[in-house]
Amino acid sequence: MNLNTFQKNTKQRVDSGLTDAIESLPGHADKLKQAMLYALLIGGKRMRPFLVHATGQMLNVSSEDLDGPANAIEAIHAYSLIHDDLPAMDDDELRRGHPTCHIQFDEATAILAGDALQSLAFDILCHYPLRQDSKRIALIRILSKAAGYNGMCGGQAMDLAATDQQISQKQLEQLHNKKTGALLIACVEMAISLADDVSPENKQHLMQYAQTIGLAFQVQDDILDVTSDSTTLGKPQGSDQAQNKSTYPAMLGLRQAQTYLDELHQQALQALRALPYNTQLLVSFTDFVIHRTY
Ligand code: IPE
Ligand code: IPE
Ligand code: MG
Ligand code: MG
Ligand code: MG
Repeated sequence: MNLNTFQKNTKQRVDSGLTDAIESLPGHADKLKQAMLYALLIGGKRMRPFLVHATGQMLNVSSEDLDGPANAIEAIHAYSLIHDDLPAMDDDELRRGHPTCHIQFDEATAILAGDALQSLAFDILCHYPLRQDSKRIALIRILSKAAGYNGMCGGQAMDLAATDQQISQKQLEQLHNKKTGALLIACVEMAISLADDVSPENKQHLMQYAQTIGLAFQVQDDILDVTSDSTTLGKPQGSDQAQNKSTYPAMLGLRQAQTYLDELHQQALQALRALPYNTQLLVSFTDFVIHRTY
């Protein structure tokens, strides 16, 4: 299956799974429900669910078993974006070509929508039909670590602390690995945890791949903030520069940041080449991450 078809299929599965999850909630807080739906369904490339499904398929895991982690990680991602855009964080008013959640609704509703999406993610992992029920706990362990202090939230805190500051390249890498890398790594790790018989060596190559692609994802995000435009991005171009964020282009200059991205691209492909599987989809995913324009 080629990248486009697989991408379309994944999007359909995620959109319908998440719509069902929200619509089945009782109606006592309808505005909150609407805000959750808005943040989940108004757009988004669905890169994380794609990575879950592409890795899982490569390892012979059924699509049904992969739906839970794919939907759960997209709910965590949507929550992270709502909170990332809040006035107390990046204070952005445009996301996926539409007003951010706190502009469309209000700040309190946006905060609660983020909170409720985070809980929803774990609710999905607890309840989705999974034949090997004993594997649920591993999924919950992986996602909770990736979302919290040791992952995305910790990275976001480092991002805020590094704003208006000079930090070292090593610190910037650590920040990016946590705020963005952690969730992408979790995609691969959850898929591995559902597979049978992945050797420690192959697991190591896959985790190396995930770490590299996670960092590359945020380096390209930083580059696009400089080189793209708000219409293409669907979010405000120049937001990082306006806030004096610590980013790769700010630290290295645009050309060096692009060179670094090329290096990460090669490293990611090299990790895939070491695997004894059909990595075609992951190769396409890698190229997409590096060359994406939004
Ligand atoms: C944006 O992620 C936030 C980052 C971690 C860089 P995406 O670029 O995956 O956002 P959507 O989901 O496609 O809008
Ligand atoms: C956000 O990084 C990473 C998250 C954990 C949401 P950015 O602040 O660079 O993401 P964008 O550019 O607003 O999408
Ligand atoms: Mg941010
Ligand atoms: Mg932001
Ligand atoms: Mg950004």
